[in-house]
Amino acid sequence: MKPVKVGICGLGTVGGGTFNVLKRNAEEIARRAGRGIEVAQIATRHPNPKCDTGTTAITADIFDVVNNPEIDIVVELIGGYTLAKELVLKAIENGKHVVTANKALIAVHGNEIFAKACEKGVIVAFEASVAGGIPVIKAIREGLAGNRINWLAGIINGTGNFILTEMREKGRTFEDVLKEAQELGYAEADPTFDVEGIDAAHKLTILASIAFGIPLQFDKAYTEGIARLTTADVNYAEALGYRIKHLGVACRTDAGIELRVHPTLIPADRLIANVNGVMNAVMVNGDAVGSTLYYGAGAGMEPTASAVVADLVDVTRALTTDPNNRVPHLAFQPDSLSDHPILPISACESAYYLRIQAKDHPGVLAQVATILSERGINIESIMQKEAEVQDGLVPVILVTHRVVEQRIDDAIAALEALDDVADKVVRIRVEQLN
Ligand code: HSE
Repeated sequence: MKPVKVGICGLGTVGGGTFNVLKRNAEEIARRAGRGIEVAQIATRHPNPKCDTGTTAITADIFDVVNNPEIDIVVELIGGYTLAKELVLKAIENGKHVVTANKALIAVHGNEIFAKACEKGVIVAFEASVAGGIPVIKAIREGLAGNRINWLAGIINGTGNFILTEMREKGRTFEDVLKEAQELGYAEADPTFDVEGIDAAHKLTILASIAFGIPLQFDKAYTEGIARLTTADVNYAEALGYRIKHLGVACRTDAGIELRVHPTLIPADRLIANVNGVMNAVMVNGDAVGSTLYYGAGAGMEPTASAVVADLVDVTRALTTDPNNRVPHLAFQPDSLSDHPILPISACESAYYLRIQAKDHPGVLAQVATILSERGINIESIMQKEAEVQDGLVPVILVTHRVVEQRIDDAIAALEALDDVADKVVRIRVEQLN
C-alpha cells in the first residue's frame, strides 16, 4: 500500500522531534499503521539544526502544505491561536486530517474546529496537546470509556513543576530556573502562560471535556499561577506533612463541574506529590476503576513527538473507516455533550491552608477561631511559629476541613479586618486526592 503523506507545519522543538522519530522508527511505525507514514513537505522559515531533513520538500509558507493535493494529514506545530486556527480550518476545508499539539488552539477554538471536522468527515487528533508524551487523552477517551469519571487532578505544566522542584530542592531562584526551562525548550513562547497557569488551564479544559463529555470552556476555568508562592509557605507545608504542587483539578459535583488550576498542598506521601522536575502526572478517578495515575515527560522534543506520531498512526489506521464509527473528538458523541455548568470558584469546595501574620498577644487565636467557627469552618490543624516572631508578629498557620470557597473568602475578609492581623492572609487550597 502507498505510504500516507504527511505535511509538517513548524519545525521547532516538537516539529523537529516528530520528523526525527518518524524517520528513525519508520519501519516499526509502518508495521503498526499497516503502511508507511512519509513526510512529503515541511513548512518552516528556519532550518532546525537538530533535524536532518535531507531531500524533503521545504516551503516557507504553511498554506503550501494545506493546499498540497498530495498531503493526507497536516501536522500543525506552529502554536498560537490565530494563524494556527486559520491553518487548521483551511486544512479541514481541503478534506485533510489534522494532528496538532496546540492546547491553546483546542481549548479556545476546539468546539468550532471539531464541528467543522465532523461536517467534513475528517479527524483532528490532539494527544500531544496535554501532558506531552503521556497518552492520557487516549487513556481517558478510550481506556476508561466504561467509567463515569468522578474527578481528575494533574501536574500538567512541566515548566511550573520544574521551577517548584528546583526552588524546593536546590534553593534556586524563580528567574534562574525559568531561564533554564526556556533553554531546554519546555517553556511556552510566552512563559507567563506557564507560571500564571494559563497553559495548565488550557490542558485542564481539554481533559475535563473528554472526562465529563462537556464542551470546551476555557473561559470558565479558574486560573492561579505559582509566581506568588513563597519559600516560607513551601517550608510550612512540609512541616505539616504536605508538598505544594501546581495542580489542575476537574471534579464533577451535583451542582456543576469544578475546573480550577492553582497551587495545592498535597499529602507528601501521595505518589503525585513526588512527581518532580519537568515530569507530569495525571490522576483520574472513575467509578469502576477507582483512582489511576498516568506519569511521564510532559514536554520536550521527543516525548511530545511520541504523542504526535501515535496520533499519526491512529489517523492512518482510521483513514478508511466510516467517520460515524470513529472515536469522537471529545470522547462522547457530539450530540450527546452535557450542559452541566462549570462552577465559579466561589462555589468550589476544598480544604485550605491559611497563614495569618498575627500580633503575638493573648486572645488573638480566640478571635481567629471565632471568625472561622461562625462560618462553619472546621480547623484540622494549627501551628504557631513562636520562634519566628518578627516585629511582634507571629505566623499562625492553619489547615481547615473542606468548605465552600465563599465561606473562606468571607472568613479571610473578616480576619484581615482585625486590628491584630497584619498583611494579607495567605490562602492555598489543600487536596487529599484519596
Ligand atoms: N510549556 C509546556 C510545559 C510545554 O511546560 O508543560 C508542554 O505543553
